[in-house]
Parts: sequence; C-alpha cells; structure tokens
Amino acid sequence: MNIRFRLNGREVEIEAGADARLLDVLREDLHLTGTKEGCGEGECGACTVLLDGQPVNSCLLLAPQADGCDVVTIEGLAEGAHLHPIQEAFVEEGAVQCGFCTPGFILATYSLLRANPEPTDEEILTALEGNLCRCTGYSRILAAVRLAAARLLAQRPAAPQPVAAAETPEAE
Ligand code: FES
Ligand code: FES
Repeated sequence: MNIRFRLNGREVEIEAGADARLLDVLREDLHLTGTKEGCGEGECGACTVLLDGQPVNSCLLLAPQADGCDVVTIEGLAEGAHLHPIQEAFVEEGAVQCGFCTPGFILATYSLLRANPEPTDEEILTALEGNLCRCTGYSRILAAVRLAAARLLAQRPAAPQPVAAAETPEAE
C-alpha cells in the first residue's frame, strides 16, 4: 500500500505491505538505521520514535498506522553537524556506552522535556521506564537528562514582562 507521512520534517511516500512494521520501513526502506531493534516485542524501547510527538515502539507499529502522521527519528534531532543539546548531554555525562539503547532514550527524553521542561527525578524515571539499558546503570542517563533539561531551560527566551497597566484617568 501507499503510505505518506512526514519524516524528520520532510514528506515521504513509500510502498509498504499492510503488515510491514514501521521499524523495518524506517531502517530498510528509508535507510534510517539510528532506530534500533532490541527485543522486537515492545519491551526495551530501543526502537522508539516519535509519532505526532509521542514516543512509540516502532517494532509494534504497522507502517500504515503512520500514514498522515509526523514521525521523528533520532536522525531528525541534530541540526547538520550540531548535535541536539540532549545528545550533547548524553555524551558529556557518559550516558552512552554501547549506544544501542541511546536513540530511544534520547527521543523519550525529548518528548518528556517538551511536555515538562523541569521534571523531577521521579518524573524522569517514569518517562524513561519503557527504555532499557544494559550498560550504564541508569545514573548517568539520569544525570544526562538533568543536564539537558537545565540547558534547554537556559536557552528558552525569557517570558515577556506584563505591560504596565495604563493609568486610569482621574475622574473629573
Ligand atoms: Fe521495540 Fe524492543 S525493539 S521495544
Ligand atoms: Fe548499551 Fe544502553 S548504552 S544498552
């Protein structure tokens, strides 16, 4: 079947079987191999992509379910040679070892920080509970998310100051 969706900001159109997984279409047909397959059963989060802004396991999603949607993969975060601040934070905090889980963690973090720019540690851990890492022990990932949150918050433009109310003309 013919499927059209927006992928990392660009319209794509592709032929795929009705039972094709989005994960396979991304990796094999569209050659975006940053999205990984771990368990293939919705348990590890390695295959996380954003579908209309929400993290989903692309191993469980059929490609036709993405028709008409906005899909973001890890390849969509960096701007040219510039890593996204979340990617930089993961590197700086040593939250990347084998890296297999990292795209999924970063996209889940991206989604979290868009919805909640100042998450508590508990909120971070809840948001990332669908993502498994065999290497890091999670404390470095937590530190990376905290660092990314702080940096993104510092980049936000200051909220506009309220305009002083016009003075009420005195009653004559
Ligand atoms: Fe999709 Fe593990 S590969 S959740
Ligand atoms: Fe290896 Fe997470 S860095 S699985």
